[in-house]
Amino acid sequence: MSDKATLEYKGRKFDFPVIEGTEKELAIDIKTLRSTTGMITLDPGYKNTGSCESAITFLDGEKGILRYRGYSIEELAEKADFLEVAYLLIFGELPTKEQLEKFDTDIKAESHVDEDVKKILDGFPKAAHPMGVLSSLTSALIAFNPSSVNVSSEEAMYKSIVRILGKFPVLVAWTLRKREGLPLDYGDDSLGYVENIVKMMFKKPNRDYKKNPIMVDALDKLLILHADHEQNCSTSTVRIVGSSHAGLFTSLSAGISALWGPLHGGANQAVIEMLEAIKEDGGDTKKYMAKAKDKNDPFRLMGFGHRVYKNFDPRARIIKKSADEVLGDLGIDDPVLDIAKGLEKEALEDPYFVDRKLYPNVDFYSGIIYRALGIPTEMFTVMFALGRLPGWIAQWREMRLRNEPIGRPRQVYIGANLRPFKALKNR
Ligand code: ACO
Repeated sequence: MSDKATLEYKGRKFDFPVIEGTEKELAIDIKTLRSTTGMITLDPGYKNTGSCESAITFLDGEKGILRYRGYSIEELAEKADFLEVAYLLIFGELPTKEQLEKFDTDIKAESHVDEDVKKILDGFPKAAHPMGVLSSLTSALIAFNPSSVNVSSEEAMYKSIVRILGKFPVLVAWTLRKREGLPLDYGDDSLGYVENIVKMMFKKPNRDYKKNPIMVDALDKLLILHADHEQNCSTSTVRIVGSSHAGLFTSLSAGISALWGPLHGGANQAVIEMLEAIKEDGGDTKKYMAKAKDKNDPFRLMGFGHRVYKNFDPRARIIKKSADEVLGDLGIDDPVLDIAKGLEKEALEDPYFVDRKLYPNVDFYSGIIYRALGIPTEMFTVMFALGRLPGWIAQWREMRLRNEPIGRPRQVYIGANLRPFKALKNR
């Protein structure tokens, strides 16, 4: 018999089971709340609401812990590569050599995109935001792969999964190349997954491709660190869209749109834009610290604070080290990055930030690395999407395999009560 929690309302008592996760997280199971009490819960922003049971990612915001399928993010970032992590997230175990080779081969067999997709890409203005383009192209892929929608068997799911893992990097690279005015590139299947992405994105038409190991390693690590983060805004979007059985590509396209916002994945772009604005304004970081603390000023220090990490973001710790290495290795001297270091130091010592547990998050440092690697600012969130792809896929697959019901929250209606219609002439 599990523990129970009792709710008392107007002299009546209602019992609800308390369930415990493998990491001792407790939750009151309120599945029968409305049918037994007639009431619902109200929790804007879902700060206290568990939307599902999941075996993919564990995080403890208070202790600063992040694990994929039980493996610590620190160990994975150091010892695994992105494709292994993708396999781990999606299928639950680290792959054997044979499993990894098959996964890689199956993805490579799908790493081409129908030539007609180029026509859609051509329709976008060059200045279109890459996240909008990527979301649209991901959705458009359905038209070219209609069998990817109705996936009721694990085999059909697998096919859709390797298909999108193969094609998505091509779309990412094309989105960048279109923006930069470069001819589209199909990459090279003899390269590793991440190296091929770098090649597809940056190869100049008049130059042979030459591996930049600093770039490939830094990107591999960044993608691993972004690969999943349990039920965040975009992942919840993917699960909720997928819960209507809309199909993987549609769900991912919706997730990309959710990620775009500056309070979520868009923060890495917002960080650099903020740092550039501070530089243009004379580089006075103290002025911007004061703005961030002023309750009458909507300005927030981008890249600081996190909904669940009320301790240091463990990803930020790894990325900070990587950022220092990349900047050192590439010998980069950039005034914007000096401003970033200044802000970080001031915020970590300022009682406003310390008291509210506002630490630099993953986006603060990832923006800095992307900039050092020469990735255009508007592409930062696209890089995040590339990293998050396996996580979204894993969460979608788990949701479908568990046969979860369609997501449909309720509301407390606070609008007008029934009133008679007023004719136009009387309004
Ligand atoms: N700058 C200044 N003050 C801040 C900041 C910030 N970046 N973040 C939070 N605060 C303050 C709030 O004003 C609030 O102060 P109060 O208690 O005096 O009212 C307090 O800290 C708590 O903030 P909330 O908004 O309630 O925290 P919440 O958990 O809802 O928001 C969020 C988290 C959205 C990340 C927020 O910290 C923020 O806007 N940060 C900047 C954007 C950003 O970096 N987003 C990336 C998140 S990481 C990711 O998506 C991968």
